[in-house]
Amino acid sequence: MWKASAPSNIALIKYMGKESGGENVAVNPSLSMTLDAFRTQVEIEKIGEEGPDRWRQLANTDPLRASSTTRFVNFFTKLKIEQGISGAFEIRSGNNFPSDAGLASSASSFAALTLAAYEAFSSLASRPLPSKAEMALKSRTGSGSSCRSFFGPWCAWEGKSIGAVESGLPPLVDLVAVMDGGFKKVSSSDAHRRVQSSPLFEGRVDRAQKRMREITGALSEGHFQKVAEISWAELWDMHSLFHTAEPPFFYFAPETISVLRWCENFWEKNGRGPIATIDAGPNVHFLVPESATEEYRRELESLPGLRVMESRA
Ligand code: DP6
Repeated sequence: MWKASAPSNIALIKYMGKESGGENVAVNPSLSMTLDAFRTQVEIEKIGEEGPDRWRQLANTDPLRASSTTRFVNFFTKLKIEQGISGAFEIRSGNNFPSDAGLASSASSFAALTLAAYEAFSSLASRPLPSKAEMALKSRTGSGSSCRSFFGPWCAWEGKSIGAVESGLPPLVDLVAVMDGGFKKVSSSDAHRRVQSSPLFEGRVDRAQKRMREITGALSEGHFQKVAEISWAELWDMHSLFHTAEPPFFYFAPETISVLRWCENFWEKNGRGPIATIDAGPNVHFLVPESATEEYRRELESLPGLRVMESRA
């Protein structure tokens, strides 16, 4: 039996929009921080010489949606065939964070699956494990954002290059304001396709590239406020693409707006505040210096209609 685990990650420069071709080739660079507390565990076991691969939920973890498990197993089967490995396998997986929390689990799931699969293939075929960068590239073909879970705490992904990025910031904690969207969900895979119909999509790649250059500079200089400003601009850029797609769609819950207002006011009042970002969902991620975690947690917990989850990088 082979086992692996991988963390999730949260992007400040967003992967949004893909080239056609089905390999999750992003149209723009992205930058993320790993979330070490939000992890997926994967176990792989050979169960026979032939027959289909199958999935089972790891004990004591939340169930996944059936559509996610099909995509998951199909990806494993594709890797297995590509690598010339025979046999039928059982893949067991589970997240250590609740799946109803609205936190993306495809990044940690596909990264952990790719790692465990290569462990299995290397040992079965007696060959060395590929490099982390090679595995990250392969994992990208399962789910784009998963390639950034291979490097931390900060990771940049641009074309075929995926790797750690230097940071001069103090250690950060992600406080996630989790709320119940309760709306019809548009998956991030659908969002990648639908944003291309927005009139704002023209120029999007240039804007993301410019922010990417600026944020990597600000990060290495340890310029917290600049990182926060770029992240704020990027949050609105991506969500504006959603709001202006044809037809438009949106993820915000009423509490999403209240908590963004809280953040804006906090900065205005104190001249400091968190780095905010939002993925394809209603929850708002606030990256704060580890030393100020309790202060921000108390503030957020005093707001109605949300609960707070926490992860270090
Ligand atoms: C909004 O990696 O979930 O979270 O490649 O289709 O699996 P697929 O998409 P996915 O897209 C993530 C989109 C995002 C932004 C980001 O993480 O960069």
